Amino acid sequence: MSKVILTGDRPTGRLHLGHYVGSLRRRVELQNEGDFDEMYIMVADAQALTDNFDNPEKVRQNIIEVALDYLSCGIDPSKVHIFIQSQIPELCELSFYYMNLVTVSRLQRNPTVKTELKMRNFENSIPVGFFTYPISQAADITLFKSNIIPVGEDQLPMIEQAREIVRSFGNIYSEGVLVEPKAVIPQNDVCRRLPGTDGKAKMSKSLGNCIYLSDSAKDVKTKVMSMYTDPNHLKIEDPGQVEGNAVFTYLDAFAEDAHFEKYLPEYKNLDELKAHYTRGGLGDVKVKKFLIKVLEETLAPIRERRAELEKDIPGVYKILEEGTLYARNVAKQTMAEVKNAMQINYFEDEELIKEQAKRFANKNA
Ligand code: TRP
Repeated sequence: MSKVILTGDRPTGRLHLGHYVGSLRRRVELQNEGDFDEMYIMVADAQALTDNFDNPEKVRQNIIEVALDYLSCGIDPSKVHIFIQSQIPELCELSFYYMNLVTVSRLQRNPTVKTELKMRNFENSIPVGFFTYPISQAADITLFKSNIIPVGEDQLPMIEQAREIVRSFGNIYSEGVLVEPKAVIPQNDVCRRLPGTDGKAKMSKSLGNCIYLSDSAKDVKTKVMSMYTDPNHLKIEDPGQVEGNAVFTYLDAFAEDAHFEKYLPEYKNLDELKAHYTRGGLGDVKVKKFLIKVLEETLAPIRERRAELEKDIPGVYKILEEGTLYARNVAKQTMAEVKNAMQINYFEDEELIKEQAKRFANKNA
């Protein structure tokens, strides 16, 4: 079976470290391993509009930010098709037919939708577009026959719903047209959910607790120095806690033994550093300074590449346009197969026309 990888992000802001460890880093690895037939990354602007329909300017300004983030992280447009969701009309077409295969109560039970409805205070006036976005996301995935979906854990219910739709489609219309997707989530706990700099469960733009991939070195420094640690670790001599301590969680996600050798040779690895902190006698400032160096190992090259890319914005749009053109061709092909399976291909179906012509001729004979 061919391997088709697809992921996407809503362009509602620049991408941050949570995106990076949760999915972006893995995408670049997958791209470089090269073990796939096709790989797509979609800028999900239409999905972003489902909860930002009153602010299209925000979405419009962030498409380029997200594209710059992808490219500066090392996504290579000669290997990966980067495309813009709204420019593929077949996605709407496919979603429309999928709507017949999903019940309202099934959507209401989708845990991601449930949480998001609460978060957005939509409870009493839920926009239909938002409510049905799992259906449109199933279209995103299946239109490209993708079977490998590297996403964060919060997206698992979306993939499950897409799988159900594929099965219904197979049962009702035709097997083998669509492909059941599989989610690939980070193996490692820390990467599934990187906390914010304030120690809260998740990095989120609205909480103002993010470190962005495009932050300046100065911003990264300021943000790390004010990070949440162990509130009871007041004096250096105090024993400290590493669990729930965001600085250590970030080190879990980013620090390698080589970083110790380079920047903090009195420790061999993170375990030794944690042991010292737990014992007492290790100050937050020292750990934070180390974290800054560790983060910069990842962020400095990304920042440099971004600065280069920012010099040629039309070139970045060209990349998006080419990726979209490619995706569009694949979309048309799958959509033709879908319509064929659903028998809504009247003009292409000579048999249908012949058979009906005969039937009416007999009737009138
Ligand atoms: N819902 C995803 C998110 O919020 C974005 C997304 C849209 C996506 N379509 C997709 C992810 C298809 C994977 C596959 O992050």
